[in-house]
This record gives sequence, C-alpha cells and structure tokens, in this order.
Amino acid sequence: MAQVEETPGQEILSMIEKPHEIPEGFEPNILAFACNYCAFAAADLAGVMRLKYSPSVKIIRLPCTGKLDHIYVLRAFEKGVDGVFVAGCLVGQCHFLEGNIAAAKRVAHIRKLLESVGIDPARHEMFNLSAAQGPRWAEICMEFTERIRKLGPSPAHIAIDKKGGNKRSEQK
Ligand code: FES
Repeated sequence: MAQVEETPGQEILSMIEKPHEIPEGFEPNILAFACNYCAFAAADLAGVMRLKYSPSVKIIRLPCTGKLDHIYVLRAFEKGVDGVFVAGCLVGQCHFLEGNIAAAKRVAHIRKLLESVGIDPARHEMFNLSAAQGPRWAEICMEFTERIRKLGPSPAHIAIDKKGGNKRSEQK
C-alpha cells in the first residue's frame, strides 16, 4: 500500500483559509429578489429617473418577499451566483402584512447555512425600502455590488470555472 505523508493540521488550515485571488476584471453575478409592490417599483423608478446602478444585478420579481424560498437562494449559489439580496417593503408596510418579516428570518437562516458550507454570509442580505425610494435602490445595488466585488467570486463560481462549466464567465 502506498505511503501517504500526513499534512500537518496547521498547513491544512492555512491552505483552506488562503484567500483566493480576485481575477482581473471580475464582475460579480448578483441576483436580487424584489417584491413587486415596493422594491421592484423602486427599481422601476430608478430606471425612470435614469439613475445609474450596477448592471451586475439581475432582478427576479416576487409578489412579496414572503414568497422567498430557501431553495431559490441556495440554488443560485450552487449555480455560481456571487451574491444574492432580497429587497422588500419597509417594516410595517408589507402588502401581505408580515411577508417581509418572515423573509428577514429566512435570510438570517440562509446566512447561517451559507456560513456552514464555507460561503461568506455577507454574500446574502435583506434590504427594506419603499416604492418611492428609487435612489435608495440604486444605492443598494451599487453598495452590494462593491461588497461582492471585494469578496471576489463565490467558492461555487470558482469551482464551476475550474470545471469549465460557467457559460457566463466565458461570455465576459
Ligand atoms: Fe413587499 Fe410583502 S409586499 S415585502
């Protein structure tokens, strides 16, 4: 039987924790789950106001953030999305009463799940805004994109790229 030399524990840890290089020109893939009544309307308003915000953000409209399912977010990360945010109505203004409160609890839980599998929980966040806050929408997109740009590609994105299966990266 072949002898396998044992790698010292400290060395293993430093290999795991070694920050990966952020590739030059990296632009994050970001998914935003926006509730129809406030966040999506705010995004629409930002467009009407011709406010510039990150083109990296792809919006998926939900009737209410209360419809957010863990699987949507986890699947996005599995597919190599670098960051996911959820945007709902202001607290107390959800059109379905407490959908945004349920969503905030789900986001907190998903953050813990992400952390447990080695994905920085900062890659997932919930924001609340009103339909009149077009500039706030633009600001959230810019700030979140900047945060994810600094974090670099998500571990799943890197793994997919290594296997040569990330069509989006090839398109860049
Ligand atoms: Fe906007 Fe519920 S309707 S979060």
